[in-house]
Amino acid sequence: MKTELLRARSGRQRRRAATRGASGTPAGQRARQWIAGIAGQVVAFAALALAACTGLPGQPDPAARPIRPADVKDVNVLYAGNCAGCHGAEGKLGAARPLADGLYWHVVRDADVRDVVTRGIEGTEMPAFAMSEGGALTDTQIDLLVTGLRARWQGTPLANRGLPAWSVGSAPAGDLGATQRGAAVFAARCALCHGATGEGGLAPGSLVDPSYLALVSDQALRSAVIFGRTDLGMPDYRGGRGETPLTNGEISDVVAWLGSHRVASPRWPATPQRANPAREEKP
Ligand code: HEC
Ligand code: HEC
Repeated sequence: MKTELLRARSGRQRRRAATRGASGTPAGQRARQWIAGIAGQVVAFAALALAACTGLPGQPDPAARPIRPADVKDVNVLYAGNCAGCHGAEGKLGAARPLADGLYWHVVRDADVRDVVTRGIEGTEMPAFAMSEGGALTDTQIDLLVTGLRARWQGTPLANRGLPAWSVGSAPAGDLGATQRGAAVFAARCALCHGATGEGGLAPGSLVDPSYLALVSDQALRSAVIFGRTDLGMPDYRGGRGETPLTNGEISDVVAWLGSHRVASPRWPATPQRANPAREEKP
């Protein structure tokens, strides 16, 4: 009995083995392959679904996540958000001095610009930006602006070694003769455009208007003489048509002459000025 059973089983096994040989793939193996196939598709689909998840409507896109103001590191974003309103979108044709000026970046040191941006310029519209001064920029952001704006606007290095000193503070101290000498410099080098008295000529607007002088620092006047307003048609200290460059002393003297027109209580508001066509928007 036992041996018959054994024989029967081995008989079934032999038949099974025979069937396997005949049909190639047994049902079990086909089922395993089918399941493996389904599992593969499930895994692939899950991966796809995960990848697509961020793109589903209503899901936040990590790239569009707002950056905290203090974490903004892009110089162009920092400039556009904090400076462009006064210094011009492209660094020119703004109310305040153009910063898109290669000569400017050759004369100023990083420390000068960092100081101005950190503390602002007292008594003028130039705000203090450092958080320690009540501003909105971190010290890192101010450093990024200084190096970034220099990289953007300095241009090719200048061969000229005898550049004038930028800071009013570093200029030779004014003496009693400064204002008189400055009047002579003005007559020779500025009157052509600004009128004999400085009240306006080819260049619109008065340079000796007390309201104007109350709004600008001596540094702004000195910067105007050194760098001009090349965006508005005023040449820099080297002059427009082959004149000899103004010396450090002449620059200080003409600034002293302009400053001598300051009054203690300027009238307000400023008299309306004729517009400079260069300031008009180009289509
Ligand atoms: C070739 C003409 C020309 C000459 C020369 C010239 N300027 Fe100007 N200046 C201009 C023009 C144009 C402006 C821009 C006027 C405006 O639209 O506001 C200007 C603007 C200025 C400003 C105002 C800058 C600002 O943005 O606040 C000052 C200050 C100034 N000039 C001083 C001088 C002095 C000082 C001299 C002589 C050393 C001089 N300029 C020579 C044409 C000239
Ligand atoms: C609300 C207007 C305003 C804003 C905003 C502003 N500035 Fe100024 N800035 C001025 C004025 C006005 C002056 C000239 C002040 C003076 O000396 O009379 C000035 C002066 C400067 C100077 C010195 C120019 C010189 O004479 O050498 C630098 C550098 C400067 N700004 C950089 C910046 C930077 C960088 C930013 C942005 C972080 C900025 N400013 C934002 C108005 C502004």
